[in-house]
Amino acid sequence: MSEEAIKIGLLGLGTVGSGAYKIIEKNQDLLKSRTGIGFEVTKILVSNPQKKRRVNVPQELLTTDTSSILHDPQIDVVVELMGGVTASYHYIKEALEQGKYVVTANKDLMATKGEELHRLAAEKNVKIFYEASVGGGIPLIRPLQNSLGANRILRIMGIINGTTNYILTKMSLESMDFDSALAEAQAKGFAEKDPSSDLEGWDAAYKLAILARLAFDSAIDIDDVHREGISMVDIRDIQYAKELGFTIKLLAIGEDLEKGIALKVHPTLVPLNHPLASVNHEFNALFVEGDAVGEVMFFGRGAGEMPTGSSVVADLMDAAREIKLGDKSPSLQPSEKRNILPVSELVSPFYLRLQATDEPGVFGYLATVFGGENISLDMIIQKRSEGGIAEIVLVTHAVQEKKLEAALNKVHKFAAIERVASVYRVIEKK
Ligand code: NAP
Ligand code: HSE
Repeated sequence: MSEEAIKIGLLGLGTVGSGAYKIIEKNQDLLKSRTGIGFEVTKILVSNPQKKRRVNVPQELLTTDTSSILHDPQIDVVVELMGGVTASYHYIKEALEQGKYVVTANKDLMATKGEELHRLAAEKNVKIFYEASVGGGIPLIRPLQNSLGANRILRIMGIINGTTNYILTKMSLESMDFDSALAEAQAKGFAEKDPSSDLEGWDAAYKLAILARLAFDSAIDIDDVHREGISMVDIRDIQYAKELGFTIKLLAIGEDLEKGIALKVHPTLVPLNHPLASVNHEFNALFVEGDAVGEVMFFGRGAGEMPTGSSVVADLMDAAREIKLGDKSPSLQPSEKRNILPVSELVSPFYLRLQATDEPGVFGYLATVFGGENISLDMIIQKRSEGGIAEIVLVTHAVQEKKLEAALNKVHKFAAIERVASVYRVIEKK
């Protein structure tokens, strides 16, 4: 390896670490011709050096000694691909303290400790890059920071979790059951170590917090994001939605509204002719609406070894250019926290599935309750009746969430209503 090679210490050689390592090996010449710099992985931290790997790596590169990476003065860049928020946080902090550049794919950490880590990096005159933390192989962080930097961003909306999109796609297109679809997503390396992070919407919430920080120039706490996952999505809702001309997707939505910022992650009925409806399997897509550019859509593989490795190595190339050529990219500027709107203030059409005893007066009662709250119904259909229990599907016109809540409180009290089985927000058909 030539004198000017950048020396890299990897923390982690799982799905993403293997992808990054393979790209550095395979595209060595290309990386060098594009940057004028060689890339050399000199050490790799793992928890079990004897484990069978998905990539061929010289055994002597593997270590369990963190200090041999963080305190090696030869290592220029530490690439954190372990996941988790405890050990990774301490290792990243230590790497920055030691004056090393850091690249990470860790959205949990960047969403919760990003401000602090950026501040520390600035103090030490180094940088932390995190393109792979959102959208896998799709460039999202840099476009928001650079190419769309002249815009006031009005809205970001999209599918930013590959695992849940894979599951919902399999349930919808192949009627596969939830657990089998999850097992496939795990086998393909999309799912987090703790899959509840994907299923309960945490992963998408972390990613939305990272994007919203850049889009709306505000500090964002993870609790600012209203979050609902997909574990309650029933195959019946998917079927009914299809009959009504919709598919169900886990959407992440951030909006810069008159009175503040709205941030939410939830399963949503998306019209079948909407571009997001055909984003399937592990693919992700994000709409960004800017006041100058209008709508821009980003689409690609949001998870997996090579797509995510692609973003990691692109960050490494930027880090290498800064270190070896002094080619500085912009730093994240500190931001005040803006007003975050509670979800009760937000407005959306809703899909509801109710189970009721099949008796006269139920439709009349529902019409009175919703009418009393000034909620206009787009449709109300009795889907089927089994064992004396009728399933009723309602779709409302746009309604403020606190008004819907008030109506549902009354619906719950009506003896004939056995259960409000599902409540989902709807993207209006155009
Ligand atoms: P993974 O397959 O579970 O790999 C984790 C790696 O880190 C393993 O090599 C493991 O060692 C090592 N490791 C974990 N804790 C360690 C510790 N305390 N000390 C030493 N080594 C440790 O995880 P992954 O899917 O590659 O994800 C890595 C990061 O990328 C996460 O932050 C994740 O959210 C993010 N990400 C993942 C994807 C994806 O598609 N998978 C996409 C975007 C972002 P052993 O191999 O010895 O067990
Ligand atoms: N678990 C994440 C997903 C990996 O399924 O999208 C990519 O961040």
